[in-house]
Amino acid sequence: MSTTWIILGGTSTIARGFARAAAERGEGVILAGRDMADLEATATDCGLRGAPVAEAIPFDARDADTFTPILERSKALDGTISAAVFVGSMPPQDEIDEDPALINGVVADSFTGPATFLTALAPEMEARGKGTIVGVGSVAGDRGRLGNYVYGAAKAGFHTYLSGLRNKLGRAGVHVVTVKPGTVDTAMTWGLEKLPFLAPPEKVVADIFKAVDKRKDTLYTPIIWWPVMTVIKLIPERIFKKLEI
Ligand SMILES: NC(=O)c1ccc[n+]([C@@H]2O[C@H](COP(=O)([O-])OP(=O)(O)OC[C@H]3O[C@@H](n4cnc5c(N)ncnc54)[C@H](OP(=O)(O)O)[C@@H]3O)[C@@H](O)[C@H]2O)c1
Repeated sequence: MSTTWIILGGTSTIARGFARAAAERGEGVILAGRDMADLEATATDCGLRGAPVAEAIPFDARDADTFTPILERSKALDGTISAAVFVGSMPPQDEIDEDPALINGVVADSFTGPATFLTALAPEMEARGKGTIVGVGSVAGDRGRLGNYVYGAAKAGFHTYLSGLRNKLGRAGVHVVTVKPGTVDTAMTWGLEKLPFLAPPEKVVADIFKAVDKRKDTLYTPIIWWPVMTVIKLIPERIFKKLEI
């Protein structure tokens, strides 16, 4: 009996590639998100590529009422349940500075919404004693930078949550992979200038499945971001606070 992936943020550029790759591996996909027409189109594509389950379901990270039908659908699935979180939003930092109320939404999208959903899903996965959770964070969560520190703070919260969840669920045979992409050529970055090491989403998807299969704990993708972030994390704060990177 194969895995069925519950994919939160199923309209994300990276998630679409992830769902197609899962389908080609013979795995099922349930695409959850806000744009049902987009999700249905990806589900149809995944069905044609061989996914044994290919469905779309509404999900809004800021509305916990949308979580219940997905959790009920998960319980009714045969085989292994896995989950992948691609939800996130990154309004420009200067817009947040103008309207601090935006912070709640950024944190709900990247951290509290997905964490609330995964916490509710965890007992079913623990009971089955298998499955994988892929949580997409960001290198932005490794250090607070001038240009996106609210987004980075939300991702840092999600990283810490995933670390604890890995500790808890690993005891039951469920594996949690934290994914930290650098810059990826997706809707989130279109229009932004000066992006170093911009990666195609297909590269990130291939790296994620390698990490899933090898049961890696944390993945920097592309791998160049591991040395880059190692250096960035080592810069003393008295110097870092003056940098514009
Ligand atoms: N692109 C990069 O350079 C980069 C780098 C590091 C990390 N990441 C992370 O990678 C993940 C995927 O992003 P992407 O690059 O593929 O960009 P994207 O295409 O903009 O995807 C963002 C996704 O989040 C969804 N979303 C936002 N708020 C939501 C909400 N309240 N409820 C439900 N869904 C919501 C969007 O849904 P709608 O279509 O409904 O808006 C979309 O599916 C995100 O977590 C992002 O933070 C991206």
